[in-house]
Amino acid sequence: MRMRKKTNLIPRMERCSHVQIKDPAALKGIWLKQNPQMSALWLELGCGKGRFTAETAEQNPDVLLVGIEKVADAMVVGMERVCGKGIDNVRFIDTDVLALPVLFEQDEVDRIFINFCDPWPRSRDAKHRLTSPGFLELYESILKPKGEIHFKTDNQPLFEYSVEVFETGGWTLSEVTRDLHEKGAVGVMTDYEAKFYEQGVKINRLVAKKEKR
Ligand SMILES: C[S@@+](CC[C@H](N)C(=O)[O-])C[C@H]1O[C@@H](n2cnc3c(N)ncnc32)[C@H](O)[C@@H]1O
Repeated sequence: MRMRKKTNLIPRMERCSHVQIKDPAALKGIWLKQNPQMSALWLELGCGKGRFTAETAEQNPDVLLVGIEKVADAMVVGMERVCGKGIDNVRFIDTDVLALPVLFEQDEVDRIFINFCDPWPRSRDAKHRLTSPGFLELYESILKPKGEIHFKTDNQPLFEYSVEVFETGGWTLSEVTRDLHEKGAVGVMTDYEAKFYEQGVKINRLVAKKEKR
């Protein structure tokens, strides 16, 4: 996501600092122990400006939702949304998805959302796709045995690639659709998705699960 550099980024982040985790590795293995009122831990990878993050958290007040985003200029918008609405079950981490094993213990996470990740269309860049085999191995290690990945994208080639990678990796797919909003808007939309929906672009979605051990 290319963004114009936001002015006052640091003071804006400071104003919402209670929703940002600056030392997330210190919570590895104890995310829910530190938040005993929460019954599950969900992650959103590449949460961008946090529209989906805020609405999903509002709809699931007993879930701790952690938004992970490597571009602080985008993430600060999500932080402000969550602060402005007084939502208390979201935390943001300004880091790369590659850091997941440093931040979460094996079998610690109940669900992972991957929404409209960058498609990296050239095959030589395939390893950067958030649904490439290397990333799926990271997710498998931190997900609970019955944990799920919920994946949405507008990008048809990325979706077909991802279906193949999930299936080859032994994941079971459900709720597979290549036109999620065919009969009207379904579920919580992300910022990107809302724009695509207005333009009539079809949205692909699937849920992936893997029996572990
Ligand atoms: C196309 S945007 C989609 C944003 C949001 N999920 C949405 O649907 O509106 C992809 C986002 O993922 C973030 N991103 C891409 N690769 C990432 C990585 N390896 N680690 C963390 N964030 C990443 C980008 O910075 C960008 O904000």
